[in-house]
Amino acid sequence: MKGRFITFEGIDGSGKTTIAKLLYKKIGKNVVLTAEPTKTWLGDAVNKALENKMDAITVALLFMADRNEHVKKIKKWIEEGKIVICDRYIDSTFAYQSIHLEMKNPEKWIYKVHEPFLFKPHLTFLLKIHPEKAMERINSRKRILYEKTKFLEEVQKKYIEMAEKESRFVIINAEKSREKILDECFNILKKKKII
Ligand code: TMP
Repeated sequence: MKGRFITFEGIDGSGKTTIAKLLYKKIGKNVVLTAEPTKTWLGDAVNKALENKMDAITVALLFMADRNEHVKKIKKWIEEGKIVICDRYIDSTFAYQSIHLEMKNPEKWIYKVHEPFLFKPHLTFLLKIHPEKAMERINSRKRILYEKTKFLEEVQKKYIEMAEKESRFVIINAEKSREKILDECFNILKKKKII
């Protein structure tokens, strides 16, 4: 039997990393937990580009280069019949980079670059939370709070637009307790016969 590819998406502070880890532990067997940016030199390059405030095209290309290599590993795990849980994936690039890329129709460009290695998840959990609440969780410096909240609002809007277009998305209210969110995700996987 072939495996399944599940991704977690959401704005910073939505709690997806915690839930992805808990879900991975709860499933227990035949499951792989991975994330983007990856823990490879390509992922390090992405983080370096972000730290050094490189321009939006450079950052986007690095995210996508990291993904191109990551997809090969994901496909291998799927072939082995594993359930692959990935903390951030392609939708992060559409949601975040499309805001920063100064070009006409950035989504079209992102899609085009992905074309040779496009591999969509079977299921995507989108953790939705009020950006102010997410900001409280990340506990960022006050000075940039407003700017950052507005940015996260925009990112979340993009996510919701995507979720409305593709049936693989399941929107989860991320303001509930982590136990409830975990149960909800677990039950959805059961219902869809993924586990
Ligand atoms: P993380 O905090 O979930 O590890 O993600 C690091 C940051 O990278 C986060 O602010 C979202 C951003 N990101 C993108 O902008 N585009 C992408 O394609 C990915 C995978 C992450």
